[in-house]
Amino acid sequence: MLSLNNICKSFGGVKAVDRCSFKTEENEITSLIGPNGAGKTTIFNIISGLTNPDSGTIRLLNKDITGMPAYKIAQSGISRTFQLTKVFRNVTVKDNLLIAKNTSEAEMKKMLESVYLHKPLDAIASELSYGQQRLLEIARALLKPHALLMLDEPTAGVNPRVRQELKLILKNLKKQGKTILLIEHDMDFVMDISDKVIVMNEGKVLREGKPKDIVKDKKVLEAYLGK
Ligand SMILES: Nc1ncnc2c1ncn2[C@@H]1O[C@H](COP(=O)(O)OP(=O)(O)OP(=O)(O)O)[C@@H](O)[C@H]1O
Ligand SMILES: [Mg+2]
Repeated sequence: MLSLNNICKSFGGVKAVDRCSFKTEENEITSLIGPNGAGKTTIFNIISGLTNPDSGTIRLLNKDITGMPAYKIAQSGISRTFQLTKVFRNVTVKDNLLIAKNTSEAEMKKMLESVYLHKPLDAIASELSYGQQRLLEIARALLKPHALLMLDEPTAGVNPRVRQELKLILKNLKKQGKTILLIEHDMDFVMDISDKVIVMNEGKVLREGKPKDIVKDKKVLEAYLGK
């Protein structure tokens, strides 16, 4: 589905991403984990065309998308959310969703229900709680036609109930055949829902494998907890 080959990106003297390669498989949830500053969000920005890599290539559905402008990459099949939620605060829930897809109110309501967001379409986005704004952003990303859904820390700052709901949402999406790339710090969450976990540290892929193998990996534990 998506493959990164030897991606590098430096900001001044900081090697944010260093020869990073990995793949996501269709109909799987792949999670990117790693300490703060490991390069996870930079990878997302490179994949979605917001940041150009210094070197390396990215392929989506067997097409080279490296260096393409963000809107073209979005059209090629990537939909994403951001670590810091980006909903349009001064307009309604409906207008936020219309940006993703020109669709019926019925479909929009169905989408809101599917992400457990119980708010009317005419509610102003800024009047939603933080967690609800995150759910709105996820609803918007889901409405936009896509092949790959990328979520940057969807559970950050949301309460345990919404966190459980997010888990259900992701499990349901997987059942529907979706392909998801997720950045997440909550280990229990990651280990419960992922098919594959990629551990990054200092811009590099440190380990990659099934959740059950990653949780007991010595190098991974060291990267997280120190030696
Ligand atoms: N636009 C930028 N300009 C300069 N440095 C940057 C920029 N974006 C990222 N960096 C640096 O690149 C490194 C990786 O940052 P990145 O945001 O990718 O980390 P992350 O793994 O997403 O961390 P977190 O878990 O805290 O979100 C950091 O050292 C960061 O300071
Ligand atoms: Mg980040």
